[in-house]
Amino acid sequence: MAILLGLFSALLFVSEAIFVYNVNSTIMDSALLGCSVPVKTDLKNLRFYWQDERKAVLYSFNKGKTMFTHVKDPYLNRTAAFTQEMTKGNISVLVKNLTLGDNGRIFEAYAAVFNGSETVMQTSKVCHANLYVTVPYKHLKLAVNTKTMTSVCTLHGVFPAPEIRWTIHYNHSESLVESKHVHTKTEQDPENYLYTSSSTLHIPADHYRAITCLCHNPTSNTTLNATYTLSKGAAVWSLPGRTAGLIVAAAVLLTALQQL
Ligand SMILES: *[C@@H]1O[C@H](CO)[C@@H](O)[C@H](O)[C@H]1NC(C)=O
Ligand SMILES: *[C@@H]1O[C@H](CO)[C@@H](O)[C@H](O)[C@H]1NC(C)=O
Ligand SMILES: *[C@@H]1O[C@H](CO)[C@@H](O)[C@H](O)[C@H]1NC(C)=O
Ligand SMILES: *[C@@H]1O[C@H](CO)[C@@H](O)[C@H](O)[C@H]1NC(C)=O
Ligand SMILES: *[C@@H]1O[C@H](CO)[C@@H](O)[C@H](O)[C@H]1NC(C)=O
Ligand SMILES: *[C@@H]1O[C@H](CO)[C@@H](O)[C@H](O)[C@H]1NC(C)=O
Ligand SMILES: *[C@@H]1O[C@H](CO)[C@@H](O)[C@H](O)[C@H]1NC(C)=O
Ligand SMILES: *[C@@H]1O[C@H](CO)[C@@H](O)[C@H](O)[C@H]1NC(C)=O
Repeated sequence: MAILLGLFSALLFVSEAIFVYNVNSTIMDSALLGCSVPVKTDLKNLRFYWQDERKAVLYSFNKGKTMFTHVKDPYLNRTAAFTQEMTKGNISVLVKNLTLGDNGRIFEAYAAVFNGSETVMQTSKVCHANLYVTVPYKHLKLAVNTKTMTSVCTLHGVFPAPEIRWTIHYNHSESLVESKHVHTKTEQDPENYLYTSSSTLHIPADHYRAITCLCHNPTSNTTLNATYTLSKGAAVWSLPGRTAGLIVAAAVLLTALQQL
């Protein structure tokens, strides 16, 4: 009875302790789907597999052997686990060469542990991870037309769609531009899924010193910005900057005013 209770609570622990987490990575890069079971075991007593929300298997391990034939097409030759770590209960899997087809996938790990013919841990869901893939934001273009008092900020070929905000800087303060002065258009290329976003700001007549366009990438949690500075009445182009995170390079486009 005590053994039965012990087993029962261990199973409860496993099924109730599932922690849902996000793994955010970059296209062509890798993502580690971390997972541990609270059991030390011989490889020959371990069975586990990872599958996505379509039940497509990424990785399958049965009693000492990787079951390559169980792996479904989108994951063929792209996954690996860590044999030496498995005896400690670490059944993490690495997904390599990420594509946008992997974005938004939900991965679940199921594991069972045996001891000879006895079942130490019944097959149960042990881990749950959501994967998000980004195509980093690199080239932010900012063009200002001082005649029409409009400013256009463009980000091309990125994923996911950016969250664009504008700020206006005064000599001693700065403020976020109200959305009624901003018009943002976002389009997705149906073939490669990449977004192009263009935000137009109708610059309010005011004694501002500079305007900044900020493009936030929710997946990498980084923000790319570009600033247009007015100096002694003449327009001066400043180099766009970036805030922490993925390495980004940016360029300002000096668009001819007439082209706007
Ligand atoms: C996986 O690798 C094997 C052997 O290297 C190769 O024959 C097969 O075409 C590869 N499959 C995919 C989908 O890349
Ligand atoms: C599991 O193994 C992987 C690969 O060595 C490692 O990166 C990860 O930190 C390990 N996880 C735990 C919980 O030890
Ligand atoms: C990664 O995936 C891309 C697109 O599917 C493919 O062209 C490329 O050969 C892959 N690279 C590796 C190292 O598998
Ligand atoms: C497996 O069974 C043997 C003999 O019944 C026992 O000594 C050992 O502690 C068990 N191992 C695990 C991991 O339960
Ligand atoms: C902002 O500061 C500059 C330099 O100190 C000054 O020339 C300019 O008049 C100031 N602008 C406003 C609107 O106060
Ligand atoms: C990971 O990406 C998702 C989707 O874009 C986002 O909601 C989440 O906040 C990101 N997590 C981190 C830690 O940045
Ligand atoms: C994004 O980064 C900021 C700091 O740069 C941090 O405060 C915030 O918690 C992060 N958001 C997520 C979802 O990780
Ligand atoms: C723009 O990026 C630069 C460079 O990282 C940073 O110092 C600055 O604070 C950012 N500006 C805003 C308004 O976030």
